[in-house]
Amino acid sequence: MKTDIKNKDDIIVLVDAFYLKVKSDSTIGYLFTEVAMVNWQKHLPIMYDFWDNILFHTGNFEGNPMLKHRMLDQKSRLAETHFKHWTKLWKKTVDDLFEGENADEIKVRAENISKLMMNKVIS
Ligand code: HEM
Repeated sequence: MKTDIKNKDDIIVLVDAFYLKVKSDSTIGYLFTEVAMVNWQKHLPIMYDFWDNILFHTGNFEGNPMLKHRMLDQKSRLAETHFKHWTKLWKKTVDDLFEGENADEIKVRAENISKLMMNKVIS
């Protein structure tokens, strides 16, 4: 039986599973591995804090996502398909592992941020 996302340990499980999918994904994987050449040891803890802050209001996240994605777009153009696919993968990863109020919340928040980011970055 699946449980809800209860704490940061659950967020770590979710984020790790998501980027495992992302790395080998044929639509957006190259943006991480070839274009941005992400340093995963650095990036993953940032993402744990980002989602921990969104769900549990820890105040731990200090990044600048809009700037990072604008820079990425300058290196290799981002399109609506990329954002839609990112969101689809995120939702699938959440649904594969968790269910409950927080699981629903983290999907809605991702969808909203993705739309906002898409408008700010590619329009
Ligand atoms: C087209 C879809 C997306 C792509 C290809 C993408 C890719 C990336 C890449 C390459 C980085 C930089 C990693 C580095 O530091 O080198 C990054 C950072 C990040 N992304 Fe995305 N991303 C996408 C959508 C999203 C969405 C929808 C969200 C949130 C819901 C998100 C949240 C973040 C955050 C919080 C960071 C860290 C920013 C920072 O370090 O200041 N991304 N992303």
